Amino acid sequence: MLKTTVLRCANVPLKRTFSTTFFRPNNLKAATPITTAVKGVEDDTRSIPPKSDILTKHDAVSTVPDVRGDWVLFHPVYSPEELKAIEVTFKSEGVSAFLITLEQVVHRDATTFADKLAATMVMIARRGFDLVSRYKHKPIPANHNMSLEELRKGGYVMDESQWLMRILFLESIAGVPGMVAATCRHLRSLRLMRRDAGWIHTLLEEAENERMHLMTFMTLKQPSIFFRAMILGAQGVFYNLFFFSYLISPKTCHRFVGYLEEEAVITYTRAIEEIEKGRLPEWADKPAPGIAKDYWRLPENATLLDVIYAVRSDETTHRFVNHSLANLTPENDVNPFALREPDMLTKGVKPGFSREESAQYVKESHAIMEGRV
Ligand SMILES: [Fe+2]
Ligand SMILES: [Fe+2]
Repeated sequence: MLKTTVLRCANVPLKRTFSTTFFRPNNLKAATPITTAVKGVEDDTRSIPPKSDILTKHDAVSTVPDVRGDWVLFHPVYSPEELKAIEVTFKSEGVSAFLITLEQVVHRDATTFADKLAATMVMIARRGFDLVSRYKHKPIPANHNMSLEELRKGGYVMDESQWLMRILFLESIAGVPGMVAATCRHLRSLRLMRRDAGWIHTLLEEAENERMHLMTFMTLKQPSIFFRAMILGAQGVFYNLFFFSYLISPKTCHRFVGYLEEEAVITYTRAIEEIEKGRLPEWADKPAPGIAKDYWRLPENATLLDVIYAVRSDETTHRFVNHSLANLTPENDVNPFALREPDMLTKGVKPGFSREESAQYVKESHAIMEGRV
């Protein structure tokens, strides 16, 4: 395994040209300089670490050495306009978190029995998750004159450590559904000897995107053994539950993920609000981790707040994609996002495409590819 990695590093330039299509601005030439720790590769703008470090570096994220670059699948790069395009009306004073969930972010109404089942499962998961992550967000009383310390003590505001616990747990679970769904569809394609209609790649991208969220926040905290054990248990249960559920009803599973992602958008919106209102001063001017700057092509002086805006945009994409996929017939329909994806100006303000809108979108994609527009 190690040998393969070394060979690849030695022989293949680290630029990934196959993903740099017209539609996908996934290009290392953009934004930040290309950096690599591998000898003999062109465009090395960074110093090469000592030989003993070249293969292994133990840190909070991984044992991968300090190689930066485009080793991931397609990943999003947002314009500043897109980052602010997500529709939310979010007031913490005097409004309970539960009401916010129902009324104040882009939400898809549950109409069928399967939708309602998915929404209920998410509500149960959310309550359980709140309990496990010790999430407290009591409405802040109007006209209060409590200090930040008092707000935290009173359970009105979370501190940095509580935020990280919540985010790390959320992201470690959020990376599961995309991989399970991709696995199921991959195996189905092999088994039936039929094409997949473009779903697998989008699902894998989602799984990796969630894992990158986890890796990003892992640079900020080293979880305890107890926390890791909790994730181990949760993963064991959730992976298997989702796998069997996906075999029974892929549509319901995508709807479930759509609702779960609505919750993720709420969580990150609240984090943004806390930072911007000065209730999470530890993150106010914190620089963005290097791994995040590479992944989202952020400028060198980007902050953690910029990263959280990008993460929220990703969650918005997952919400949109999964609600759209849940509106399709999974056995036969083409994934409308296999060729291109709408930008955040669309994904930020509506929960997903109906089946008819997906068909129209695929039609437009074909027209673009054939040069008719
Ligand atoms: Fe995430
Ligand atoms: Fe997500």
